[in-house]
Amino acid sequence: MAAYILSIDQGTTSSRAILFDRQGQVAAVAQETFAQHFPHGGWVEHASEDIWSTVLSTCRQVIDKHGISAADVAGIGITNQRETTLVWDRNTGETLYNAIVWQDRRTSDYCRELMQQDHEAFIQARTGLLIDPYFSATKLRWVLENVEGARQRAERGELAFGTVDSFLLWRLTGGKVHATDATNACRTCLFNIHTQQWDEELLALFEIPASLMPEVMDSSAPFGTTEAALLGGEIPIAGIAGDQQAALVGQTGFTPGLCKSTYGTGCFMIMNTGAEPATSHNRLLTTVAYRLHGKPTYAMEGSIFVAGATVQWLRDGLKLFEAAADTEALAEQTRLGHGVYLVPAFTGLGAPHWDPQARGAIFGLTRDTDIGEIVAAGLQAVCYQTRDLQRCMDDDIGTPIERLRVDGGMVCNSWVMQFLADMLGVPVDRPTILETTALGAAYLAGLQIGWYADLDEISRLWACERTFEPRMAEAQRQTLYAGWLDAIARVMHHDE
Ligand code: G3P
Repeated sequence: MAAYILSIDQGTTSSRAILFDRQGQVAAVAQETFAQHFPHGGWVEHASEDIWSTVLSTCRQVIDKHGISAADVAGIGITNQRETTLVWDRNTGETLYNAIVWQDRRTSDYCRELMQQDHEAFIQARTGLLIDPYFSATKLRWVLENVEGARQRAERGELAFGTVDSFLLWRLTGGKVHATDATNACRTCLFNIHTQQWDEELLALFEIPASLMPEVMDSSAPFGTTEAALLGGEIPIAGIAGDQQAALVGQTGFTPGLCKSTYGTGCFMIMNTGAEPATSHNRLLTTVAYRLHGKPTYAMEGSIFVAGATVQWLRDGLKLFEAAADTEALAEQTRLGHGVYLVPAFTGLGAPHWDPQARGAIFGLTRDTDIGEIVAAGLQAVCYQTRDLQRCMDDDIGTPIERLRVDGGMVCNSWVMQFLADMLGVPVDRPTILETTALGAAYLAGLQIGWYADLDEISRLWACERTFEPRMAEAQRQTLYAGWLDAIARVMHHDE
């Protein structure tokens, strides 16, 4: 009997393939990074063939590495960087333009026009989102407006649009399936989260021909099978979810009130709110957490664009240290009240500020500021931003978050996790399996292929490795956080 699920985690900076066994344990991992393209200030692109070739090669590697064959893989789960937008030719499968990445800000001016025309309340009511270049709709419109002949070809029904999951599904099935799941669809700004369908009025507003859109399926569903030649056999693709929602599933966040935060390139805090969508009055997003048997479970999300990317910038841009793991020792040597604040608004600010024009800054430098303090400030910024989101969520939900489950690359850093618990004033739980995103996609596929009877069975697989209890005095927390709010106010863009 096939003993593994292959999880494809196509992220912002790398593609990973992970084999999981039925207990949710990692059997093998392969990872490849790929180039980031910044053709203009604020633009971020990926070559679509890089996305595809790294996915295919990591899948092959992980199967080879573990000495198994396609017949040992019971199913595939796909999870992906969300919102990133691709358009391809339905006949050739070739993309018309690079993938426009979720971080890309090229449509800021158009978004400002939409704001001025007062479309935000309508958009929020239908999609749970706000007006921001982050979401796919304005990126897709940009391709149709700027790539020669694209609009005419789209109107003739020759083109397909997809987020990364949909593009991979198309390629893996040899062009047979053009579909996505509800967690990815709801990030496009074209999907009505109440009716669970593409919204005709939104398609009209953004001038998107409906023929471009993929079919929207459940997160656990029979999406199709892989072309035999690709991985050496036909493997069923049985689960798809956007990476942040997949992380919630990997953290077994199946009960309302359960909250997780993932620290990858960005930081995304998501709380399960149950069968009804909860509307935020603090500029957080309403999103589909997962959809099973046609029934959506909703979540509230706070999206921060830059978290782990700060560490990368400090390492590769400023060359302050060699390895990300060095940051823990550097930060440990600093006093908490060093007074330096680093605001990593490299691509504007996400929730709750939504300011695409804001840019990063470092405040509070003195003659004796050292590398450790700048590094600590970069790490602390991630925690302060999580505190920003926590305050909004507490207010929106009406009851304070009781604890937070964390995952993603940065959570190995125990100094950061302790500071996070101190800043939030609630316990922070770090699970034993930190590959939570990929695990979530594997669980979704596992539900579809009958590995797991239901969500309760999956919940029993979650285990905590360490809990960080808050220990900072309230007065100190407030003083440190006040300094952060002051720094944020200074980077916000104010229209003349
Ligand atoms: O919404 C963007 C998000 O899906 C990207 O996630 O893990 O690549 O930072 P990550």
